[in-house]
Amino acid sequence: MTIPRHQDGHATHPVHEHESLWTATVSMPHFAPLAGDVEADVCVIGGGIAGLTTAYLLTQAGKSVVLLDDGPLAGGMTGVTTAHLSNALDDRYVEIERVHGVDGARLAAASHTAAIDRIDAIVKAEHIHCDFERVDGFLFLGPDDSHNGEELLDRELAAAHRAGLVGVEKLPRVPVGATGAALGPCLRFPRQAQFHPLKYCAALAAAIERASGRIFTHTHADSIDAGPPARIKAGSFTVVSHAVVVATNSPINDLVAVHTKQAPYMSYVIGARVPRGSVARSLYWDTHDPYHYVRVQPGPESAQHDLLIVGGEDHKSGQADDTQERHARLEAWARARFPIVDGGHAIECRWAGQVMETIDGLAFIGRNPLDKENIYIVTGDSGMGMTHGTIAGILLMDLLLGRENPWTTLYDPSRKSLRAGGTYMKEAANMAAQYVDWVTGGDVASTEEIRNNSGAIVRRGLVKLAVYRDEHGTLHERSAVCPHLGCIVGWNASEKTWDCPCHGSRFDKLGRVINGPSNRDLTTPGA
Ligand code: FES
Repeated sequence: MTIPRHQDGHATHPVHEHESLWTATVSMPHFAPLAGDVEADVCVIGGGIAGLTTAYLLTQAGKSVVLLDDGPLAGGMTGVTTAHLSNALDDRYVEIERVHGVDGARLAAASHTAAIDRIDAIVKAEHIHCDFERVDGFLFLGPDDSHNGEELLDRELAAAHRAGLVGVEKLPRVPVGATGAALGPCLRFPRQAQFHPLKYCAALAAAIERASGRIFTHTHADSIDAGPPARIKAGSFTVVSHAVVVATNSPINDLVAVHTKQAPYMSYVIGARVPRGSVARSLYWDTHDPYHYVRVQPGPESAQHDLLIVGGEDHKSGQADDTQERHARLEAWARARFPIVDGGHAIECRWAGQVMETIDGLAFIGRNPLDKENIYIVTGDSGMGMTHGTIAGILLMDLLLGRENPWTTLYDPSRKSLRAGGTYMKEAANMAAQYVDWVTGGDVASTEEIRNNSGAIVRRGLVKLAVYRDEHGTLHERSAVCPHLGCIVGWNASEKTWDCPCHGSRFDKLGRVINGPSNRDLTTPGA
């Protein structure tokens, strides 16, 4: 792997490696762990944008709410998003209409528009300083579509209009700014938005507390008994509540039902310095598969630069380990199109996050399939976690308050999207293929080959071990079998995690679970 170099010979070493722009610039408020039994109307598990928005709206509606998170607040995927707030769906309206019909596409458009409007309203009502601003969004052609792309844009424009989006138009070129490369024709989506997700989440948490909601972090929900009333065990303590919302990115309470309908993908991001004002503040994304997505975050007042945030290079989780190459390709792609500052710190940060892609392009929000009526889930962000997380807050509030909501059926976790069957079969085959890892060899023949601060899968007889050698040379051995449904995890050298290729569980280097659906750590061999 060669790290890109520029005219002055400096390598583009980032200031923040494996750290998002958001976590590098904001410290989230601290909350104590649960230290006694408590009761509430609703227990929300998970303190990302979906859990916090749900808790916020419920407390505003007068409900008593307890929120639990097993890490710091917003320490999961909310901290590594690029925070595009868009009603131009990732899968694009032609596909959403094919799978969900015109009426479904209209509801999807209306719900994402409402999510942006709700964030706008909350920002104003709570006087939140989170860099929220309305911007335009531009869909332009990827290299593969540059020849026949005009027709692609025309079809998408017509589908967006049928979905009820107002003001979407085709332009002859992307108005990227005076110094950017010509990106060709595009669709303009008005009244999109962007913000700093952690500033927003920190303010939501403060507002929840002001409304008498209770937040406990570093509190792991070990089990959920639906009751009623529901009983959530967390260590030695219990939360008793009428209802439970599981907002843990990938549900920890549902072993199978939704996990066969979504798949985890890693996505990569760089934050590059561009001269202040040189790139118009807008959202940009192309038609490539996987697509590139771009936005501009203003730099600090004292600086002469903005940060161009560029994402893409997605792959199925646990099925590639070439992070540096992917970040380098992103940088090359961005340099060919935008006026990135040259110099040693042109790339200010590089990070990665996991996206849960559903088979039909929309999140699963509502009552958990096969569970009692008081257990709700939100999962399947589909690359639109900020708007889907906010839709979850609005929809779950209505369901919990017994109100009608027109989006209920569209987002129902029990739905069967028959027209998405091809995607379902493809993902099912991919998951099934992962079980072959049970009989293959390890990444290395012996633990001697594992360098310090690195990990590898090692076969020992009939079993496979996830072996990490720490900075001091000490080996830490765990079973490589994911406690969820038994796939073999893989080492992620960039993030220093063990990632499961089947349904997205992730574990830290010592095997402690950091992302569901597994709710348990990798086991210690022989324990
Ligand atoms: Fe399902 Fe690992 S996440 S088997």
